[in-house]
Amino acid sequence: MRTNNQARHILIKTYGCQMNVYDTEIMQRTLFPIGYKAATSEKKADIILINTCAIREKAEQKVFSYLGRLALLKQNRPELIIGVCGCIAQNIGKKLIQRSPCVDFVVGTHAIFQLPSILDDMYRGKNTKKVFTNFNEFINEIDLVNSPVIDSKISGFVTIMRGCNNYCAYCVVPYVRGPEISRKAEDIINEIKQKIDKGMREVTLLGQNVNSYGKKEGMISFVDLLAQVNQIEKLKRIRFTTSHPKDLNTDLINAFGNLEKLCTHIHLPVQSGSDKILKRMNRKYSRSDYLKKIRDLKKRCPTISISSDFIVGFPGETDEDFEESLSLIKEVEYDSLFAFQYSDREIAPAAKYSPKVDEKIKRQRLIQLLDVQSKNTVKRNLSCVGNHYSVLVEGKSKKESDQWTGRTSGNKIVNFVAPDNKKNLTALLVDVKIEKACAHSLRGYLCPTK
Ligand code: 5AD
Ligand code: SF4
Repeated sequence: MRTNNQARHILIKTYGCQMNVYDTEIMQRTLFPIGYKAATSEKKADIILINTCAIREKAEQKVFSYLGRLALLKQNRPELIIGVCGCIAQNIGKKLIQRSPCVDFVVGTHAIFQLPSILDDMYRGKNTKKVFTNFNEFINEIDLVNSPVIDSKISGFVTIMRGCNNYCAYCVVPYVRGPEISRKAEDIINEIKQKIDKGMREVTLLGQNVNSYGKKEGMISFVDLLAQVNQIEKLKRIRFTTSHPKDLNTDLINAFGNLEKLCTHIHLPVQSGSDKILKRMNRKYSRSDYLKKIRDLKKRCPTISISSDFIVGFPGETDEDFEESLSLIKEVEYDSLFAFQYSDREIAPAAKYSPKVDEKIKRQRLIQLLDVQSKNTVKRNLSCVGNHYSVLVEGKSKKESDQWTGRTSGNKIVNFVAPDNKKNLTALLVDVKIEKACAHSLRGYLCPTK
């Protein structure tokens, strides 16, 4: 508990994925109720916590360059406290302090729940230069039941499981987030309800591999969890991410269409179109297994939007292997995708794989791949023109104040105008007719609800 009554101001800088965004929220939920306040800038902060990402080298470089700037700030204000949290903290622990001496303490992915006592001890001069990177084995120790929701956006995140057991050859996640642990369904439902009271209408259930929710603990299946979430009053939409293709089963495919609140979008990262590379990546499915699941999804839900992740330049990827990724993209016709140049992570097995692909070739492949996808995106977006979509309104468009913005069930951003600009449409599901397809969004106008 805090010993000093004067409010201390905390700035939390977040890097990386949605899981980190959620962890930042947890940090706020544990610290704000006991007296800490949000700082609006680095200059006004007494404490700066950095929630870091270790997925690729570039993500790490960003964090170290931010730490470089903070070191200068700390020269003028030695009382400023700097804590590094998240995946880099978990991965390199003590080395972080050796590399960046301005860092006061290091808090790994499982220890964020101890932040109140870590900070309290810090102010009593006890915790300087300490590292907290032990993994907790039990969900009770890392659950969030005791930290009430502070606020929520219209579209919010709720973590349903942490960690990953898949050990893809390129990936740091199983090492920095530990083995899979699922939260109890009742805690998840409770958190969703709390967020609904604060204005949330769409939830994205988060996990590294949501399909294996509850398996280790012998709890209800992911599809049963979805069915329970589907019944929550006032909740309008459900999304989830990420789904591992090897575990996408018929029950989940059938949930599209059975559960009316489940959005018609799935993020199904394939990583590569080449069987040889998929095997070396330890993905445990083949190109044809993946394509079969895509066909089944499209059959079950013809309007489904599909997105994916690709890695280019994995060790041993030849021009022919890369061509197979391109042909897969053409065949699936993704709505959107994320593509990354392979980046060696010392802790992951692929760091030792050879032959490495030249950086220049990786860059060329990335550009080529994004170019092939941009044709798909244009085609998919153009196919929306003239149709009506149900859009969950998130608020006014930041760019154009006379427009509203929201998403379709298929996760496409829609900016639209309404005849009566005074009526507040935020949080409503409205009917929008699409007039125009832009590169990354759609434009339309509000239609009277039938
Ligand atoms: N290099 C490049 N991309 C990676 N990803 C994960 N690890 C690496 C790496 N070492 C990508 C994968 C994953 C996404 C979150 O990040 O595509 O799905
Ligand atoms: Fe990383 Fe593979 Fe786990 Fe995804 S499934 S987090 S890529 S190890």
